[in-house]
Formats: sequence, C-alpha cells, structure tokens
Amino acid sequence: MQILSILARKGGVGKSLVARSLAVQALIDGRKAAILDADPQATIVSWGRRRQPSAPFILGLGNRTIRDALSEIAGRGGEFVLIDTPPHAQPIINIAAEAANASLIITGPFPEDLEQVGPVASIIAALGKPAGIVLNKAAPKTTALSLARAALTTFNLPVCPTAIAQLVGHPYASAEGLCIQEREPGSKAAAEIAAVWDWAKTILTPPYDPTITPSYDPTITPSRRSIPTPSRRRSRQAA
Ligand SMILES: Nc1ncnc2c1ncn2[C@@H]1O[C@H](COP(=O)(O)OP(=O)(O)O)[C@@H](O)[C@H]1O
Ligand SMILES: [Mg+2]
Repeated sequence: MQILSILARKGGVGKSLVARSLAVQALIDGRKAAILDADPQATIVSWGRRRQPSAPFILGLGNRTIRDALSEIAGRGGEFVLIDTPPHAQPIINIAAEAANASLIITGPFPEDLEQVGPVASIIAALGKPAGIVLNKAAPKTTALSLARAALTTFNLPVCPTAIAQLVGHPYASAEGLCIQEREPGSKAAAEIAAVWDWAKTILTPPYDPTITPSYDPTITPSRRSIPTPSRRRSRQAA
C-alpha cells in the first residue's frame, strides 16, 4: 500500500481539496484509492456524505491510531491512501508524515502562507522521506506566483510545476460531493489536478535519473565487484 500524507501548518490552504482531488484522480488512474481523514474538522468525511459514488473509501480517524486506521484500510483492499491532516497539530503532522511513504506540503503563494512551510519542511527533512510542495490558490502567471516559487527554493524540496489556480469550480464541486474532474471534465482546472497527480507519482516513486551514474570502486577486482557486499566494502575500508 502506498501512502501519501498531505501536510500544512496553516488552515485553509487547500489540504483537503488536494487530498480528495488526488484521491479521485488516482481512481481515474485505476488505483484503489482511499482517504484517511485525520482532521477532527472531518472536512473529507463530510464531503463523503454529500458524495454519491462510493469511491474513494473514506475513513475518519476517530479514536484510532493512524497505524490502526491504515491497517483497516489495507484490510479493505486499499492500494493508495491519502492522509488528510489538521493544521496547527504538530504531533499528528509528525505521525502522518512518518507513516507515509511520501508527503506533499500544500501552500498558498502569499507570505503568510509561505512562512508556515518551514516547520513542516523541517519535519520532512528530519524523516528523510520523499516530499514535495504544491502551490494552491494561485493566480496563474502573476508576480506573486514567481516570487513564491523563488522563496520555496530555500527548502530544497521539489515544487510541483503546476500550481492549482483559485477557481470557484472547486468549492462548487465540493458542495455536490464531487471533485472538479467529475463536475467539469476537460476543464483547465481538471487538467491542473491531473498534472499535479502525474507529478505526485514521481515523488512517490522517483523516476530513474540517467544523469546519476552508479558509484563503483575501480580498486575492487572484477570477481569481487560482482558481489559488492557491504561487509567486504567495510573490511577494505578498515584495512
Ligand atoms: N484552488 C482553489 N480554488 C478555489 N477554492 C479553493 C481552492 N483550494 C481550496 N479552496 C477552498 O478553500 C477552502 C479551504 O480549503 P481546504 O481544502 O478545506 O483547506 P485546508 O484543508 O487546508 O484547511 C474550501 O472552501 C475550499 O473549497
Ligand atoms: Mg482540511
């Protein structure tokens, strides 16, 4: 089971929107997607109540631990899980990031949003797990967006090349228990979510990078090179 946690210390930046939009895009991509709603505000659980399609499977955390909730989702056949997290709740952010294979930090493009990225980026750095940043509620091709991208380079994390634009179609879709790809298929907003999903997959499973050549020690004889066990390397270094 692949697990992607959706994180931000700030409320209202679009964590829940990104979690449900990516879950629906994962379904479109043929994955058995589920959402673990770990926010007591239960935004996704409420969206699920308004929703007619039975997928994605949605589980509210309730009194479970994140580990138990993930086991329950695995037991129901979930293959890909998004964890939606609450703002301001550092312990849950930590636990969700730790339980996940990878994390996405969501931020708006303005200074008040960007200054909240640092603490979450520190958690990610401490865990050493794959992560990336998604800009949401952006106005396309604005100076604010370019400045935000420049500011985000500080964190040394990949930033999604597609920023999600602020469009009223997103809340309209939510009101109907849908995502934009379902309410307005073929729209620019739907294409943005599809592009964010394609990029998020590269964070979950980093692609082969042909510019990185595998390191190899020319002092090791060919017969030894074919069996590069760590213990042999250590003993050579110790000698
Ligand atoms: N790209 C967007 N365009 C328009 N409205 C958005 C967008 N992203 C989020 N929203 C709206 O902003 C509000 C907060 O989003 P939400 O996903 O609940 O944030 P969070 O989970 O980070 O608190 C919701 O009403 C949501 O529909
Ligand atoms: Mg939320």
